[in-house]
Amino acid sequence: MRVVCVLLGVVVGAWAVVLPKLTEPPCDSLEAEAAAAVFQDYINAQRTSGFKYALNQIDKIKIKTLADMEIYKMELDLLETKCHVLDPTPVAACPVRTKAEVAVDADCDVAFIKSGGVLKVTAHRCKTEPESAEDMCLGCPQLLALNDTNALQMATVSLAAFNNRTANVSISKYAVLEVGRLSTQVIAGGPHIFAEYAIVETNCTTTDDDNCVPLNKTVATYGFCRAGSASAGVAVDCRIFPPQLAVDPNTNVTMPATSRPVPPTNNTVPVSGIMPLLMADMMLSAESAELLEPVKVASIIPIVKRQAPAAETVAPSGQPVPVPFVPICPGKKKHF
Ligand SMILES: *[C@@H]1O[C@H](CO)[C@@H](O)[C@H](O)[C@H]1NC(C)=O
Ligand SMILES: *[C@@H]1O[C@H](CO)[C@@H](O)[C@H](O)[C@H]1NC(C)=O
Ligand SMILES: *[C@@H]1O[C@H](CO)[C@@H](O)[C@H](O)[C@H]1NC(C)=O
Ligand SMILES: *[C@@H]1O[C@H](CO)[C@@H](O)[C@H](O)[C@H]1NC(C)=O
Ligand SMILES: *[C@@H]1O[C@H](CO)[C@@H](O)[C@H](O)[C@H]1NC(C)=O
Ligand SMILES: *[C@@H]1O[C@H](CO)[C@@H](O)[C@H](O)[C@H]1NC(C)=O
Ligand SMILES: *[C@@H]1O[C@H](CO)[C@@H](O)[C@H](O)[C@H]1NC(C)=O
Repeated sequence: MRVVCVLLGVVVGAWAVVLPKLTEPPCDSLEAEAAAAVFQDYINAQRTSGFKYALNQIDKIKIKTLADMEIYKMELDLLETKCHVLDPTPVAACPVRTKAEVAVDADCDVAFIKSGGVLKVTAHRCKTEPESAEDMCLGCPQLLALNDTNALQMATVSLAAFNNRTANVSISKYAVLEVGRLSTQVIAGGPHIFAEYAIVETNCTTTDDDNCVPLNKTVATYGFCRAGSASAGVAVDCRIFPPQLAVDPNTNVTMPATSRPVPPTNNTVPVSGIMPLLMADMMLSAESAELLEPVKVASIIPIVKRQAPAAETVAPSGQPVPVPFVPICPGKKKHF
């Protein structure tokens, strides 16, 4: 018996020297939040197409402390926002898609290295999927394949209407850069098609439109359109992003990449006698895109006070009182 104990002691002692320290801080701790924020910025900067993603929940965090660095391994849940990756709006100001809008979530495994106080993403793997069909309601939008012929046709018609918004003034024409989302929804008994797509400026203008090609990245402006159709016609709302600031490497002074005038951005174009309901919906989505109000969920989701599990609480009688176990992971959901 004694021999075994001594042996164990030796083994444990050896491990303490050789093995790195492994910690599992609470998922809502400051260090977990800070790392998740680094990943959110990283993933949005890295993506060249589609929509920005916002952190929803921290599922797991493990930190291995070595002599000169820490290795973080985390599991993070992100949600698709309504901001296209080319949209300069900071992700904190981008509303996420609600469940009813068929939210898309991304489950990510992420590895970081923290060295010299700097936290860097070293590896990640994400799996994205639309919220499961069972959560959907009757009359909620349904996603269409991104090659859906009718929806793409509607998008083309809507962009032609946007390009034709000024009769006499010569302004740039835009081309579809990427279709981000196509959906269909039954509203007031009738089917409607919705399209969201990114646009890029071409070398054509409203008065000269022969063989249009997109302008190159240094000079082009980009934008994003939401369009909807019903039997009555097509409505479109496009927002042109302000030109990205380029840094002059000689002076380190930021300057607009292009000096050409940016077309007006108040661009809701009703094409024909559009149904008031559909129009209202378009205005609403335009508004939420423009106002950049973060989704306020705090008021409707009860806030659960989280605490690390206390070892023991003692009642006045002196008897220990059982403390309900409060999991410290996963962290709280920021959206839903
Ligand atoms: C859309 O793409 C899918 C495969 O991704 C293909 O099976 C389908 O035929 C395509 N539909 C159209 C209309 O091109
Ligand atoms: C462009 O708009 C004018 C009126 O504003 C209209 O007469 C013309 O048919 C439109 N052209 C296209 C291609 O939509
Ligand atoms: C466009 O030009 C025509 C004739 O040149 C003029 O009658 C019309 O009012 C102009 N429309 C706008 C919107 O400026
Ligand atoms: C746009 O560029 C293409 C290719 O360089 C050229 O063929 C076309 O004429 C240009 N269009 C206009 C309106 O300048
Ligand atoms: C982009 O286009 C502008 C204007 O046509 C031209 O001056 C510039 O050299 C082009 N830049 C690149 C990287 O092709
Ligand atoms: C511009 O900034 C970079 C990095 O911040 C620096 O290395 C470079 O010396 C700066 N150049 C000038 C002209 O200030
Ligand atoms: C935008 O355009 C609409 C319709 O042309 C007009 O009623 C509205 O006042 C405009 N809003 C702004 C901010 O210019």
